[in-house]
Amino acid sequence: MKITFVGTGYVGLVSGVMMSHLGHEVICLDVDKNKIDLLKNKKLPIFEHGLQEYLDKYSDTNRLKFVDCYDEKISDSECVFITVGTPPKKDGEADLSGIFSSIKQLCQYTNQDCYFIIKSTVPPGTCESIQKFIYDQGYKNEIISNPEFLREGSAVEDFIKPDRIIVGKQSQKAIEVMRNIYKPLLEQGIKIVETDLSTAELIKYTSNSFLATKIAFINEISDLCEAVGADIVKLTQGVGLDGRIGNKFFNPGPGFGGSCFPKDILALQKLAKKADSDFLVLDAVIKSNTHRPQIMLKKILDALGGSVNDKNIGILGLTYKAKTDDIRSSPAVAIIELLKAQRANIVAYDPEGMLKAKQYFKDLVCAKSALEAIANADAMVILTEWPEFTLLDFNKVKELMNTPIIIDLRNILEPDKMSKIGFKYYSLGRKNVC
Ligand code: UDX
Repeated sequence: MKITFVGTGYVGLVSGVMMSHLGHEVICLDVDKNKIDLLKNKKLPIFEHGLQEYLDKYSDTNRLKFVDCYDEKISDSECVFITVGTPPKKDGEADLSGIFSSIKQLCQYTNQDCYFIIKSTVPPGTCESIQKFIYDQGYKNEIISNPEFLREGSAVEDFIKPDRIIVGKQSQKAIEVMRNIYKPLLEQGIKIVETDLSTAELIKYTSNSFLATKIAFINEISDLCEAVGADIVKLTQGVGLDGRIGNKFFNPGPGFGGSCFPKDILALQKLAKKADSDFLVLDAVIKSNTHRPQIMLKKILDALGGSVNDKNIGILGLTYKAKTDDIRSSPAVAIIELLKAQRANIVAYDPEGMLKAKQYFKDLVCAKSALEAIANADAMVILTEWPEFTLLDFNKVKELMNTPIIIDLRNILEPDKMSKIGFKYYSLGRKNVC
């Protein structure tokens, strides 16, 4: 099929490139000329594991093209996926201006039997209001809801092997079109859940909010483990073996971040309030996660005798999780700001996030390697679970540091190993080694 994607961010670019892999003729459209120029030269504007090979392969065919404006090139599209951002406004409500401006342009440049498929995360009721907007403009294009469940860092794999495909539709023809689009995945046994527009939209918010709730829950359980002397690793193993619970998204950390969870739980909270439907669990999750950087700061202060004033802190990890370059809503950013307010001297390193971090922090002292970041440090603080941090030569690390103190807020190191080398080692939900 001839498919256009509007918006080449993490979701749109991965989905567009991978749709060409499924055999479709794809045009990826973005009004950001710089992004499109990079893509035309087979360069990725984002760090996404495994995507480059597909970009290289399909850019040389006529199955994948990149354009930076709405014009006749997209006029024979059979369907258009909308994958533009829906960032939170000040009050937490999703900003849908990008969606409506795209739809307005698409109505002018596509045929009326072209389906507009909303893949961006939008509050329930949005697709219905877009459909009304299209009819009010005098057009007949049908809206379909097809939310995505791609995780940054594993988006290519998540596209090829989704747990399910969610389709919100208004007509039988629409579901036939969606089955045709995803045919190669359906032939592998992937299930499509067909429903109405609003239910499809709410499935997305519910999924992300539940995952965020599970993470906030295990974060507070890990704090309780520290208070009562229990071990979070054995606990998550023991609880996670319950088939109804599972051990995924059950690892404690400095809080959940990224461009989705924080935004989606706020949008859902806003929706509940608008619907006059209490959502006390979500209120608690937001409060818990917002407060978590303060808890992490206290852990760092306690490890350093109550103050970080003029102390050298080597920060390892700036991105909101490993395998991405994204620092949006990263707990590392919040924790660094708290440490700076306590007058700590910070040197930071991240394998992929340095460029974005320098754009965010004008005065951040950036190291070119983990060893450079912890040289002369009074403490090493691990904020992101990059595998390379586990492979450091910790005997060399100990030599380079002023004092051998490690605060591991991702539990990626082994307490016994750290103890044998002579570190004071602090982590989450496990006994401290000091
Ligand atoms: C999320 C959803 O998983 C995905 O389905 C949706 O399409 C987009 O939002 P993403 O934001 O890329 O994906 O990251 P994810 O891997 O879900 O992690 C989100 C946050 O939770 C990160 O800050 C991560 O560090 C944290 N996390 C995750 C934990 O703290 N513990 C865990 O066990 C898992």
